[in-house]
Amino acid sequence: MCNYNLRHANLDDVDEIYEIEEESFDSPWSRKTINDEIETNVFGDYLVVEEDGKIIGYFGMWLIMDEAHITNIAVRKSHRGKGIGSLLMEYGISYAEEKQLFGMTLEVRTTNAEAIGLYEKYGFQIEGIRPKYYQDTNEDAYIMWKYFRGEE
Ligand SMILES: CC(C)(COP(=O)(O)OP(=O)(O)OC[C@H]1O[C@@H](n2cnc3c(N)ncnc32)[C@H](O)[C@@H]1OP(=O)(O)O)[C@@H](O)C(=O)NCCC(=O)NCCS
Repeated sequence: MCNYNLRHANLDDVDEIYEIEEESFDSPWSRKTINDEIETNVFGDYLVVEEDGKIIGYFGMWLIMDEAHITNIAVRKSHRGKGIGSLLMEYGISYAEEKQLFGMTLEVRTTNAEAIGLYEKYGFQIEGIRPKYYQDTNEDAYIMWKYFRGEE
């Protein structure tokens, strides 16, 4: 029986979030960036999910005006495909909905089938492309949106 605990991130979580960053992305955020996002970014909101006290995934967004911009979501490799990403998305979406936002948006590598599958599962749709958005590989990004109040 899995025992997951979902909560807001704090500065004690930086090292574990960094571990997940490192194993999840070719160009991971630094410890300092993660620290600053949690400590000083007034727009940032970060969630972690723990299993038996160990962080196994995290989710971040910026709440700006009436939009939520998802900055990152990642799950430890050992725990993928078990619904953890879905758990984080559902919490993030309900949090944004409670704040009566217009919608949520994000960028994702056009080759990242797992993440695109996760976002589509929760009603995000591809609305555009940012050419060569990722400087490390020159890859394009899809811009995806999920609207709460209907398109304007
Ligand atoms: C994207 C990520 C967070 C998904 O987390 P997860 O815990 O494995 O996700 P879940 O088990 O909840 O799966 C949710 C949905 O994602 C999609 N998905 C997950 N694994 C997939 C795969 N291998 N292929 C295609 N779709 C996949 C499916 O739509 C799945 O829904 P379903 O199980 O109902 O079919 C995880 O793969 C990850 O950490 N990837 C590396 C970091 C990353 O790329 N983050 C996105 C940055 S934009």
